[in-house]
Amino acid sequence: MASRLRIKGGKKLSGKINVGGAKNAVVAIIPAAILAGDICTLENVPQLLDVLNFQKILQSLGAEAEFIEENTLRINPNTINTYDATAPIMSEFRASYYVLGSLLARFNKAKALLPGGCNIGLRPIDQHIKGFEALGATVDINHGVISVEAKNGLKGNTIYLDIVSVGATINIMLAAAGAEGVTVIENAAREPEIVDVANFLTGIGARVRGAGTGTIRVTGTPHRIGVTHPVIPDRIEAGTWLALAAANNSDITVENVIPVHLDAVIAKLKEMGAHVEEGEDYVRIVSNGNLKAVDLKTFPYPGLATDMQSQMMIPLIRAEGVSTIIENIYNNRFKVVNELSKMGIKVKVDNNIAVVEGPQKLSGAIVRATDLRCSAALVIAGLCAEGETIMEHVYHLDRGYEKAVEKLQAVGADIIREEVQI
Ligand code: EPZ
Repeated sequence: MASRLRIKGGKKLSGKINVGGAKNAVVAIIPAAILAGDICTLENVPQLLDVLNFQKILQSLGAEAEFIEENTLRINPNTINTYDATAPIMSEFRASYYVLGSLLARFNKAKALLPGGCNIGLRPIDQHIKGFEALGATVDINHGVISVEAKNGLKGNTIYLDIVSVGATINIMLAAAGAEGVTVIENAAREPEIVDVANFLTGIGARVRGAGTGTIRVTGTPHRIGVTHPVIPDRIEAGTWLALAAANNSDITVENVIPVHLDAVIAKLKEMGAHVEEGEDYVRIVSNGNLKAVDLKTFPYPGLATDMQSQMMIPLIRAEGVSTIIENIYNNRFKVVNELSKMGIKVKVDNNIAVVEGPQKLSGAIVRATDLRCSAALVIAGLCAEGETIMEHVYHLDRGYEKAVEKLQAVGADIIREEVQI
């Protein structure tokens, strides 16, 4: 059996959507709990596929990891008894690489399968490796298994990242929390998820300064404790619903968000002509359908996130005029364009530039999600299209959007999930 979505487009949506915890923060904080000194209680944890995968990985290492409430995960790292994380599930998603930094900090040794994840272009981990080596570890890759070992323990050092990388910044922070002395990460990524991981590490006893800037200082400690930590809201989930409302002439309020994390998306939606109102923890968007073309460029935070690029393409398809999208982070992140062509849409792509001439009409079709954000864009497209859209490969959506169908139904969307024989 496989899931697919059946979407009937054309309905204006209205109402409130409660945004869940940030996937890209929680998939780093769960493995960070490996190096805590005692029980950690993580709140606002979305029950997403990658989170459930991580729960299994921690259990395979010997940890107790159970949901004690729907969105509260309790982890007891005291029972972890191995540094060997080569369970097959490791290669199913990208963030599994965070066990390397954490196990290294705890045992001075780690062994893991190389990560999988969305197929959106080249995704090397050379900067993670460079960081581990700078802290005194040797790294060996053989038959898809990466082994890292610091025979004489980890020692703080200064590491300049050649490319701004979320994953490398976090993995080095994790390892540095167990290192002797001070580690300085220069040209660090500044994403809010990094700040959340830094707050967690501070909570368990490490000293982290500068997270959210380009220079992060981590002072490791062997005396680590447990902590209760609420995960920040998912800015990409929130941005996805805002892009939906803009494209679909709707009135949607996203709640439980940190509006400043959405600045780049909000600025672009306003530039397109949508009305946006920001409160302390909500953002309301009202769109009357008169959207103007704009140009978008993806950049590391605080620039417009590459993770919002596919979703933003849909309001641009509906907007009047010629828009360009420049993708600066990944070399193959326009796969959604192929699927949109099945819905009658023409977008010209040349390497990392897409040109959208609008407005164009979307017509319902059978489409197939190729990655997480492509799936979100196709859901938006289906909700804007004339007629019925069927989206296959829903598991991509399930990796990043908790209860997406239920949330959309609650604001009036005609969308159902069905199980079909394959
Ligand atoms: C994180 O991936 C996110 N994933 C991605 O979210 C997101 O697209 C990406 O950051 C950029 O914001 C998680 O947090 C789990 P990077 P990550 O290291 O850490 C290159 C989503 O849809 N690079 O910041 O893997 C890399 O190829 C996803 O939720 C190196 O060259 O991304 C890319 O071009 C998908 N060497 C750029 O850096 C390295 O060692 C940024 O990648 C590491 C990265």
